[in-house]
Amino acid sequence: MKQKLVVLTGAGISAESGLKTFRDSDGLWEGYNIEDVATPEAWHKNPSLVQQFYNERRKAVLEAEPNKAHVLLAELEKHFDVQIITQNIDNLHERAGSNNICHLHGEIVKSRSTRNSDDIYPISGWELKMGDLCKSGHQLRPHIVWFGESVPMIELAAEIVSDADVFIIIGTSLQVYPAAGLINYTKPETPVYVIDPKQITLNNKQVHFIQEKAVAGVEQLFNLLIN
Ligand code: OAD
Repeated sequence: MKQKLVVLTGAGISAESGLKTFRDSDGLWEGYNIEDVATPEAWHKNPSLVQQFYNERRKAVLEAEPNKAHVLLAELEKHFDVQIITQNIDNLHERAGSNNICHLHGEIVKSRSTRNSDDIYPISGWELKMGDLCKSGHQLRPHIVWFGESVPMIELAAEIVSDADVFIIIGTSLQVYPAAGLINYTKPETPVYVIDPKQITLNNKQVHFIQEKAVAGVEQLFNLLIN
């Protein structure tokens, strides 16, 4: 049986694909207040602005390409049972060929009904507009977890992490809960690798830290795991 490799990714893995991270100095939120675009209150107050913000993000995602870090993680499936848990709303893991992806914070290429959160649709192209309706006639919103909303996939993700033989964290500042708490679900003997160009502090956890950008870091880790 293949070893179970679980990978938690954040915005940093897509940085080398040209998508901006949230908390680095030239971050995505610049020009937009989080409260104005990524909360249920924002949606009630000014849904067109929220749509515009996510339309811009969607356009950027569609124009971006997966980088070698995404590609190598997909390639690891030849050797391991790989499960990706991503905080990213982009679809670069999918487009690189990974098969098992759990999106904690939703998916930018999908919309969902404002009446029924299980009623989810693919979006064709980059634009979701006011007036675009679900099959029962209610406005569609981006299929994104906003601040203040619950994270329905977190229990499944915690279960996946608790089953990991190897746990890898790539490109996340681990500032946002509940995702940041997932590391606490690993078995005590499970090795944890962290790839990030910035030093990440993890309380009470012995980790193998690879201080590199995602592409160089995943290349290094790939060689370590395969050889
Ligand atoms: P952050 O912007 O908080 O953190 C990005 C991390 O990536 C930082 O630790 C950077 O040092 C690192 N980084 C930068 N460039 C990198 C590179 N080339 N390779 C590898 N790492 C690099 O992004 P997240 O931790 O993903 O939530 O943010 C978590 C959540 O906060 C997001 O999912 C989003 C946001 O609010 C929602 O939208 C619900």
